[in-house]
Amino acid sequence: MDLRESNSRRRLSPQPNPAGRNKLVSAAGVAPSKSRLISPMNLTKILAALLVSLPVLVTLSLVLRNTSPDRIKGFADARIIERLVKNDTSSSSSSEDGFSDHTHMPKDKLQDGLIAPGFDEASCLSRYQSNLYRKISPQKPSSHLLSRLRSYEDLHKKCGPHTKSYNKTLEQLKSSSPSTGVDSSEECKYVVWISYSGLGNKILTISSAFLYALLTNRVLLVDPGKDMADLFCEPFPENSWLLPDDFPVKDRFDAFDQKSPHCYGNILKSENNKIATTSPSFLYLHLAHDYDEQDKLFFCDDEQSLIEKVPWLIMRTDNYFVPSLFLMPSFEQELEKLFPEKETVFHHLGRYLFHPSNHVWGLITRYYQAYLAKADERIGIQVRTFEAGPSPLRHVMNQIYACAFREKLLPRVERKKPIVTSSAGMPKLKSVLITSLTSGYSEDVRNMYWEHPTVNGDTIGVFQPSHEGHQQTDKNLHDQKAWAEMYLLSLCDVLVTSAWSTFGYVAQGLGGLKPWILYKPENQKTPDPPCGQVMSMEPCFHAPPFYDCKAKKGVDTGALVPHVRHCEDMSWGLKLVDSHESHDQL
Ligand SMILES: *[C@@H]1O[C@H](CO)[C@@H](O)[C@H](O)[C@H]1NC(C)=O
Ligand SMILES: *[C@@H]1O[C@H](CO)[C@@H](O)[C@H](O)[C@H]1NC(C)=O
Ligand SMILES: [Mg+2]
Repeated sequence: MDLRESNSRRRLSPQPNPAGRNKLVSAAGVAPSKSRLISPMNLTKILAALLVSLPVLVTLSLVLRNTSPDRIKGFADARIIERLVKNDTSSSSSSEDGFSDHTHMPKDKLQDGLIAPGFDEASCLSRYQSNLYRKISPQKPSSHLLSRLRSYEDLHKKCGPHTKSYNKTLEQLKSSSPSTGVDSSEECKYVVWISYSGLGNKILTISSAFLYALLTNRVLLVDPGKDMADLFCEPFPENSWLLPDDFPVKDRFDAFDQKSPHCYGNILKSENNKIATTSPSFLYLHLAHDYDEQDKLFFCDDEQSLIEKVPWLIMRTDNYFVPSLFLMPSFEQELEKLFPEKETVFHHLGRYLFHPSNHVWGLITRYYQAYLAKADERIGIQVRTFEAGPSPLRHVMNQIYACAFREKLLPRVERKKPIVTSSAGMPKLKSVLITSLTSGYSEDVRNMYWEHPTVNGDTIGVFQPSHEGHQQTDKNLHDQKAWAEMYLLSLCDVLVTSAWSTFGYVAQGLGGLKPWILYKPENQKTPDPPCGQVMSMEPCFHAPPFYDCKAKKGVDTGALVPHVRHCEDMSWGLKLVDSHESHDQL
């Protein structure tokens, strides 16, 4: 499915004045905290106007539902129409303590039910405000996913840090003894995620660990590392997802490796059925890029039946391993019910789990309002090079231009004439958001569009939030800016991303976008073609196993089922695609 042509994507030109959008939303009573933006007088007027226009809008939207987005460009914002049609205008009363009554909260404010109601809004503004910045996603979560998320939240409430069940299960870890005398109704099992690798990887690996937890009825606890708590809000109501500081083996995380006695792969090497006979209280799962054949047996059903009994799984990974879960027969049925649309796994889980903290939300919204809100179209270009050299690298700069012109994402410039009058129609204002560790690329693009007119009269603004020189893992403000940039890219209408970059994967998944991916240059040459649009918005699993668990031999895991394929940007990687798109290749 091409998103740009999807009927379900009721994507319309943005309002010229973003504040006006907020006003309408406030007037509809869904964002009480914002109502100070407008005077009571205006509020009454807007409300009256809305009530009068309600029947018209309902009719209009019924028409629009069956109309392609191109034909309705320029109409009112679809998000507001949706709200009216869904009868979601009932105001959620705001009480004095700032907590809201969420019983009437509109569905899209809760992102189609992904977000549980009942959080304190002020502690995490992005949770309920992201719908003001993001398009309505045409991909709806399945009712099964929603019900599993709600039951996960109950489990997390029961088993989360410092609960009675958590304390009980912790006893086993302290004494390193197998479970004896624990009331089974209080038994909880856990996946502990170790903070590891860059921020893009972290977001992808937490999502993978969470899906594994959902599939195995475990509770996910996240090692906060240096800055997780500063970057993200709590995703689950009532109890934290952060691993407590006093977690018994936390000071050993750094030392865990493939040679550790508790390392799962290592145990398999030393004695094949040791896990079955000794029932250890915890296992260290090494699922990082350098894992070996034994570590990879984690992705085999037979091994899962042994791992299943261990209460604490402590996992280190820098990979989005979800595609391999889809190749395991024991998870097949459940995954089919959770994600009938297979390419939406990270799109849904990412939007469920990762809400920018208030500090990061400030970075995002201030930047958006200042540089992106007024544009007719927002184009995100994420540049990540894996080569040394002065910025911009000429072959990469040429690749970006070749891609943008060839795919008609940006207009060419007229180098001979000083002024170009718009040929037909209204010229557009396009904002280009460039993210890169260096400033060379955005300077080049910005200068070109300043020094020369565009051939079609469009005006192009070029913006780059930060250029930090080099990637700095675990530096606080650096990661806050990196997270803000990924999020800003996800708010764009069109994306161009770099091969191999998890930063781009996060942006495309959160935004529900299929980017044009800049293929990896070889020998400092611009690739031909320079880029191609990806098959699905899913991230790529960079280091998948190539093993057939049943036959116990090597196999091309990208050729087993239609919905798990090799990635566009990494020939040995695996990604999920919706198989109805690829039946011609079956
Ligand atoms: C909206 O709600 C009212 C009553 O609450 C109901 O009569 C009406 O049919 C609803 N409209 C739609 C479009 O669902
Ligand atoms: C669990 O243990 C912690 C400290 O070890 C304690 O503060 C907490 O009250 C305990 N929880 C319950 C429910 O007993
Ligand atoms: Mg395949």
